[in-house]
Amino acid sequence: MRDDNKPSINLQKAYALETPEDSRNLYRIWALTYDAEFAQENDYIYPQSIATICASLVDASSPLAILDIGCGTGIVGTCLSELLQASLIDGVDISPEMLHVASTKLRVDTKPVYGQLFEADLTQPISFSNTQYDVAISAGTFTHGHLGPDALINVLSTLRPGGLMVVGINKEHFGAKGFKSALQKATDSKLISAPAFTEVQIYDEGSPHYGDLALVTSFLVLSPA
Ligand SMILES: C[S@@+](CC[C@H](N)C(=O)[O-])C[C@H]1O[C@@H](n2cnc3c(N)ncnc32)[C@H](O)[C@@H]1O
Repeated sequence: MRDDNKPSINLQKAYALETPEDSRNLYRIWALTYDAEFAQENDYIYPQSIATICASLVDASSPLAILDIGCGTGIVGTCLSELLQASLIDGVDISPEMLHVASTKLRVDTKPVYGQLFEADLTQPISFSNTQYDVAISAGTFTHGHLGPDALINVLSTLRPGGLMVVGINKEHFGAKGFKSALQKATDSKLISAPAFTEVQIYDEGSPHYGDLALVTSFLVLSPA
């Protein structure tokens, strides 16, 4: 049963965010209820889908250094840790409260899902880690009110040359914000390989949001951003 005294947070509010500070404020109050009241109640299947796509593109037995971009409470990392058990997963997010929840997530062997968790605003120049990651993954962060194509190009510098990006982009946001031309420009300038796209449902059948789609976009970084 819903508690009407709890602050009501919904997708409409999340999609209406305008600034990084808005994100910090919203996720500060959403962190503790995000998993149960957003992800579970809405049958949020996107993290599992993107983790599965990512796992299909790499050698599952190698100890890959992976960065979860906008890791939030750690749902993507948790799914990935089950599929890529040898991987070392770090996470980055603007919200310390979401990161705190992520820090409590455990792998099947009861070790923490994440090695390091970084607090950073990804619209700003990247300086939070010296690691050159083999893989970067992201779900739910390149969407309305959150990160756009400039931030996508910005985070490419977290990957080593030859590193794999697997980024989910809300399909409407992709069309509205110029991701296509940003990716084309990056491909033309040989910064990245030609991207591949897989359309996925963000929520499962039966969810009130069933039909919301994301384009899981994967490519290699060819030269340092
Ligand atoms: C919808 S949540 C997705 C979280 C997680 N990836 C998932 O699928 O459950 C979006 C996340 O993006 C983070 N975020 C929003 N703006 C950001 C920014 N400018 N820099 C870094 N993280 C940001 C939020 O704090 C939030 O945790």
